[in-house]
Amino acid sequence: MKRVNNILQNENYKNYIRLNEDYEIDRIFCRHGMQHLLDVARIGYIMSLEKDLRIKKSLIYAASLLHDIGRWKEYKDGTPHDAASAELAKKILIESGYNSEDTDEILVAIRNHREKDNIPGSLSDILSKSDKLSRSCFNCPAENQCNWPQEKKNLNIQF
Ligand SMILES: [Fe+2]
Ligand SMILES: [Fe+2]
Repeated sequence: MKRVNNILQNENYKNYIRLNEDYEIDRIFCRHGMQHLLDVARIGYIMSLEKDLRIKKSLIYAASLLHDIGRWKEYKDGTPHDAASAELAKKILIESGYNSEDTDEILVAIRNHREKDNIPGSLSDILSKSDKLSRSCFNCPAENQCNWPQEKKNLNIQF
């Protein structure tokens, strides 16, 4: 987990997390701060273990911790945050010790995290699913105003 912890200590990373928090201070819907990123990582890793996918833990955690770091940019100038996050993540991954092969795989998953039809069992698939499953719709004060279709809301937990 050395590389994962390097991400958490990266100054640019910490700055992007702070920017997300600042932009979302009055947001009533799901936020994109550290709690969400860790929830996604842990659910993704549990899914990978349960399905015996053998995806490296350090890849699941890196993709999860980085997948929404460009969210503030979407609020600021409208850049879709899947693309913005991948763009910002590249330098952090390299600085954290990920080689080019792992970096490329993680960046693909970040770019694909809002897609529904990723290759089953791929890092992109795990990330997009754990991202949705992480949301506690059953306990959300804004559930009535949320635009998620009723059948997609997490009214029961799986993980
Ligand atoms: Fe996202
Ligand atoms: Fe997310």
